[in-house]
Amino acid sequence: MEIINRKQRMASIARKLRRESKTVGFVPTMGALHEGHITLVKEARQMSDIVIVSIFVNPTQFAPNEDFDRYPRDLTADAAMLAEYEVDYVFAPETSEIYVPGFSTYVYVDGLTETLEGASRPGHFRGVATVVTILFNTVRPDLAFFGSKDAQQVGVIKRLTRDLGFETEIVVVPTVREELGLAMSSRNAYLSEEERAKASIIYHALRDAKLAFKNGERNASTIAQIVEEKIASEPLARIDYVAVVSNDDLEPVEKIEDSEVLVAVAVRFGKVRLIDNVVLNRKQ
Ligand code: PAJ
Repeated sequence: MEIINRKQRMASIARKLRRESKTVGFVPTMGALHEGHITLVKEARQMSDIVIVSIFVNPTQFAPNEDFDRYPRDLTADAAMLAEYEVDYVFAPETSEIYVPGFSTYVYVDGLTETLEGASRPGHFRGVATVVTILFNTVRPDLAFFGSKDAQQVGVIKRLTRDLGFETEIVVVPTVREELGLAMSSRNAYLSEEERAKASIIYHALRDAKLAFKNGERNASTIAQIVEEKIASEPLARIDYVAVVSNDDLEPVEKIEDSEVLVAVAVRFGKVRLIDNVVLNRKQ
């Protein structure tokens, strides 16, 4: 496994791999790796000849009041973990490699980015779309792997891939959870022992939504209420939003019909903001 810091070197390796007709699988991350990231890596390993993982804590997707400075960083531990899973290249650039001096070009995905996380975190998806565009341009992967925990991010990435004409297939991997149900996240490291245990209420609430749907509930506001009440029953939890939206365009729905619906939540425990979601569809 080789660790690469320079964008030019990453691009030149990617060009060579393409000439050799190797299938390149790419897993973009911000490091502080956990089982969720590793599941993406394993999937990439199975589907590609060459696996490239990027580790880059992307400043432009954090608002000034967010946790960019204290976001957990440990390249040595991350690299050791990735070596175990037979990753070929780790791309870990400095900020100035990605955001060159005088940088002024941003990618803005219209429509999908104003709601949910976009509403709570203005500018977040502009940062995500911009860095993913730069990373895709550098690596030019055949396949890129993203987690469905960040459902809106998946929508944004799929849209930009299509709109900007990247020849990259987006592979979506189901959410990996801790034993009690909490979705794995690098930010879980900020939770106290007690908060971490109590935060599994989020998953229980989403499971209740699934159950209600299975039992025939089709009213979106009733589903939202079930989720809200469950989460609100935990005194440490503060709800940012509970949304029941179309899984295609993230627009709110009233009645759940044949197409898939996303139940997405953001909840604060202390200073930590957690997101999670489930998809409701008739096949479940
Ligand atoms: P990061 O939060 O490090 O996540 C990297 C990838 O891992 C994302 O696709 C995310 O959805 C996935 N992931 C995180 N937790 C997961 C879990 N519990 N189960 C399955 N997959 C999980 O998302 C980002 O970084 C950044 O926005 C990035 C795309 C790298 C752009 O900077």
